[in-house]
Amino acid sequence: MRIAIVTGASSGLGREYARWIDEHGNVDEIWIIARRAERLEELKKELKTTTKPLPLDLTDTHSIDTVEHMLRESAAKDPAFDVSFLINAAGFGKFGTYADMTRQEVDSMVDLNCRALVDLTQISLPFMHKGSRIIEVASSASFQPLQGLNVYAASKVFVRFYTRALRFELMGKGIHLTAVCPLWVKTEFIKVARETQNGQTVKHPWPMLNPKHVVSWSMKINATNYPIATCCVPAFLMRICDKILPNPAIMWIWEGLRRI
Ligand SMILES: NC(=O)c1ccc[n+]([C@@H]2O[C@H](COP(=O)([O-])OP(=O)(O)OC[C@H]3O[C@@H](n4cnc5c(N)ncnc54)[C@H](OP(=O)(O)O)[C@@H]3O)[C@@H](O)[C@H]2O)c1
Repeated sequence: MRIAIVTGASSGLGREYARWIDEHGNVDEIWIIARRAERLEELKKELKTTTKPLPLDLTDTHSIDTVEHMLRESAAKDPAFDVSFLINAAGFGKFGTYADMTRQEVDSMVDLNCRALVDLTQISLPFMHKGSRIIEVASSASFQPLQGLNVYAASKVFVRFYTRALRFELMGKGIHLTAVCPLWVKTEFIKVARETQNGQTVKHPWPMLNPKHVVSWSMKINATNYPIATCCVPAFLMRICDKILPNPAIMWIWEGLRRI
């Protein structure tokens, strides 16, 4: 049996990745993960592929245990069991400085964006084979430190570096791995990011990408096993600037942009 695991499937990019896999993935089952069970049930009704909704809070390590147990059980029943796709799209950011955020908020950002992503990759890899594909959703925020999105940007540079090095470790195994680093995308991300004491820290995030475009572009990039998918010209330029400009220069430009 070939399966796909998609986190963050209740909205935004995760939901679009699940739809893409439904259309093009040629898998027997899609396991979709997020906290909002009713959203997962809606998606299940929409998809043609057999879909298993797993309403789990990934900041809780017991949720990872649950998925690991399911993987082991499935593999014990079927020697041909294969995780063909792992899409780690669950994640969130918060606008504001250190003073605007609770300890719980910063902790769960790190737990979800970094720890859960690494854990799910770690538990899925033993069931992946030649041709399996992994998408780790990072962000263009990973190309520089960002005051006002500090912990979020730092969590995303973690994802990008983790993906890069893991790709090296997987060399020769035929498993494709890509860190997706888009600019702003039209999802629920901004709404969630503004839910802090100073949600206007970033006034007008722009330009806004269509999630369908980010998904189809990143899956094309992943098919070629290229390590980074920026998905738009401005994010690509940010990637170049990261290599040629000193961090303080970029941070002063950002200081202006976030106030406009
Ligand atoms: N939108 C952007 O501008 C943008 C840009 C660059 C990168 N990204 C990255 O793209 C990824 C997807 O975000 P999005 O834009 O699609 O935002 P979104 O629409 O808010 O989706 C976030 C997803 O994460 C899930 N999630 C949040 N907390 C969770 C938890 N504790 N346990 C399990 N699932 C949880 C949410 O589901 P529930 O609430 O139902 O749990 C939701 O399905 C994130 O990693 C984000 O950092 C977004």
